[in-house]
Amino acid sequence: MQRTKLVTSADLTRQEVDFLMEEAEKLRGKTTQDLSGKICATLFLEPSTRTRLSFESAILRLGGKLINITDATQSSVKKGETLEDTIRVMEQYADLIVMRHPQAGAAERAAAVIQKPFINAGDGPNQHPTQALLDTYTIRREVGGVDGKIITFVGDLKYGRTVHSLLYLLALYKPEKIHFVSPPALRIPPLYTSILQKSGIPFQETQDLLPCLPETDILYMTRIQEERFEDPKEYRRLKGCYILTPALVEQGKNSMKILHPLPRIDEIEHGVDGMVQAAYFRQVENGVYMRMALLKELVKNSSV
Ligand code: NCD
Repeated sequence: MQRTKLVTSADLTRQEVDFLMEEAEKLRGKTTQDLSGKICATLFLEPSTRTRLSFESAILRLGGKLINITDATQSSVKKGETLEDTIRVMEQYADLIVMRHPQAGAAERAAAVIQKPFINAGDGPNQHPTQALLDTYTIRREVGGVDGKIITFVGDLKYGRTVHSLLYLLALYKPEKIHFVSPPALRIPPLYTSILQKSGIPFQETQDLLPCLPETDILYMTRIQEERFEDPKEYRRLKGCYILTPALVEQGKNSMKILHPLPRIDEIEHGVDGMVQAAYFRQVENGVYMRMALLKELVKNSSV
């Protein structure tokens, strides 16, 4: 693996993903000194607790030090500074930057000007490549890998960037089939189904979750992305459209595993949490090891 930046999961290769999953496995439960002497900046210009803390935990476990901006109102962005200038300034202070930004395409702009390692931690409804990596790693740990599996995505498939990013990685493997379950207003954009078409992966779009459950291996639940809606009435109309209950989970195989990028609002009832199918908290833990693997690799490849 040669890269020093990760902007989109679209340009990851299967070889890179397999390599990072192996590395994450080796880093489980460990602390190392791979980032010793490095100052790492987390620049989060959109609300986030878990992704930021997951990165910060990964950085500290690798022996790195942290500086951060967690609130756009604290930064010069508020004074009208361009994103490009913010990045050029931040890289004078830090040896790598992890950025979350509310606008689609912001990560690409930042990566174009930065000389140092850079990771996109989510840019608007566009991409969230480290979530895709940790989801793929979780699928491998929970059901042995993507090949031959039936994966069902449920909820806000229009704005959910974790779904968008993960589809690029699934297309590197051979899933048997993909179901997209959403209300018509939140359908998966054609840009993403075209990735599956190109890779010859069968998929179907539906509003009905129940018929998909008996054959599903991975049930990927998502939150309705309130902050992306222009009309709050439309959000209120769609909120609560899918709620996974223990009774619904019983309609699936015992071996089915439930993933969710979190935070959850109301789409998975708390009664599901204790069921063997619930894998979402293990998914959170996997994220720390996957981010450790990625950070270690990007810094190793960097000469600046
Ligand atoms: C996701 C995100 O930020 O896109 N969460 C996360 O990365 N922990 C999913 C979401 O916010 O719904």
